[in-house]
Amino acid sequence: MKHVRKLVFICTGSDCKKAGAKKLSKDLKGLTDEGDLKGSCKFIKTKCMDMCKTAPNVIVGDYFCKKTSAPKVLDQLKKS
Ligand code: FES
Repeated sequence: MKHVRKLVFICTGSDCKKAGAKKLSKDLKGLTDEGDLKGSCKFIKTKCMDMCKTAPNVIVGDYFCKKTSAPKVLDQLKKS
């Protein structure tokens, strides 16, 4: 059986860090460690994505989550 994982890119550049990227990443890991999403996501930290104005930025698959929060990313994960 193929194990499919969703890729989540979290920007940890300086502006996103200031906007709470570290906490966002921690919260997301906590939230996806339970329920349906358990073991189905892979988090990848990236350098600046050049969209600092909309920090914190997260990419779920091919969708950009701008000025995002853990619940918004979670919603997108469930949709994708
Ligand atoms: S620091 Fe995240 S987009 Fe620039």
